[in-house]
Amino acid sequence: MSAIRDIALAPLGLKRIEWVRDFMPCLEELRRRYAQTKPFQGVRVSVAVHLEAKTAYLSLLLRDAGAQVAVTGSNPLSTKDDICAALAYLGMEVNAWHGATAQEYREHQRKTLEFRPHIIIDDGADFISLLDSYPEYASELIGGCEETTTGIARLHARAEAGTLRVPMMAVNDANCKRLFDNRHGTGQSVWDGIMYSTNNIVAGKTVVIAGYGYCSSGIALRARGLGANVIVTEVDPFKALEAAMDGNRVMTMDDAAELGDIFITATGCKDVIVGRHFARMKHNAMLANAGHFDVEINKRELRALAVSVEERKPFVDGYTLEDGRVINLLSDGRLVNIVAGNGHPAEIMDLSFAIQFLGAKHILDNGADMAAGLYPIPEEIDRDVACIKLRAMGLGLDELTDEQRAYLEGSF
Ligand code: NAI
Repeated sequence: MSAIRDIALAPLGLKRIEWVRDFMPCLEELRRRYAQTKPFQGVRVSVAVHLEAKTAYLSLLLRDAGAQVAVTGSNPLSTKDDICAALAYLGMEVNAWHGATAQEYREHQRKTLEFRPHIIIDDGADFISLLDSYPEYASELIGGCEETTTGIARLHARAEAGTLRVPMMAVNDANCKRLFDNRHGTGQSVWDGIMYSTNNIVAGKTVVIAGYGYCSSGIALRARGLGANVIVTEVDPFKALEAAMDGNRVMTMDDAAELGDIFITATGCKDVIVGRHFARMKHNAMLANAGHFDVEINKRELRALAVSVEERKPFVDGYTLEDGRVINLLSDGRLVNIVAGNGHPAEIMDLSFAIQFLGAKHILDNGADMAAGLYPIPEEIDRDVACIKLRAMGLGLDELTDEQRAYLEGSF
């Protein structure tokens, strides 16, 4: 029995899923590949990923391949009620609604695990963490896949501490995921979310980006293309140098605080922007976060400095400080690209979710023989997805001759 907001929204959700399907050729190819053999027949899969149209299509792909699927979201503000309705209408178990309280969100995740999955598709290691409280739900669990950088960090820590109890595939670390989803997906959709919610010009603005990793370097790349003056802050000396040589200014957040018009965090770290930074910011500075958790901009310290807070526009809260300056926090400090924007483009999630699907299949085929731990996506799966995408895009790829291969391998 699903727990959703309003089943009447199903027609709109179905249209949205239909739209993204046209731009996800890898998933379409996998659907065709496994339509007859149905490798997931009799397998229960629980999915906790941002519950919007692209995720819906992944869930339908798993179902078409034979699985029974239960879905929930991975952030209460990114859940789309029309998509929940569409999936429930199609007979799937859906536990999620937009704007769920922390307690409701946890209950939705718990219910989705009560399904006693054989495989989990996790985002931020939420399912894995919740299973500590409900070990009985893992009685038939073979393993799963993890979608994002922050989830991988949590799983690594668990593997080291010996508290990871099943094999998990590091989907995030596949080339077909982080080179495109983190860099180009986040790079574009963060600006989609910021521009939609503020309706401000980016050209000529000073944009401060915390981090120069996969996501943040993509955000910086697009910021430069939009005509911004970009400042990068980093804690890694190599990344800081890379940012400088890519044409960005590099400095500490303490120095950047008074220069920025727009601040964006995407580090996976906490307290990247804190009270002493807010205290130095310009009137009407915009703050946005693209990291997985809403801990990068310290909201508690911002609230403590403010004399009042008001919603100035959808997705924009204005915090008025004692001296009258207003600091604007976008999307309540949660993933701005998914909360205020449309999330990653469908063509990008096509790659990430093809890796998710094949990663889940890898666990299904091999999980019983794999020890608990975090595993890389096998190279052949990564290459398979890249080649499907190249073909779908009509792009040619040269092939090495035997002589060339031998030369590259050093036997000449
Ligand atoms: P990454 O590890 O490639 O990059 C993070 C960078 O931040 C590193 O270069 C690191 O040195 C730097 N950093 C860490 N602490 C810092 C601090 N206090 N100040 C300045 N720089 C700092 O990680 P990636 O893949 O870019 O992911 C970053 C975050 O974004 C993670 O939380 C991840 O889960 C999330 N993510 C969000 C997506 C979205 O759609 N918004 C998509 C993919 C990942």
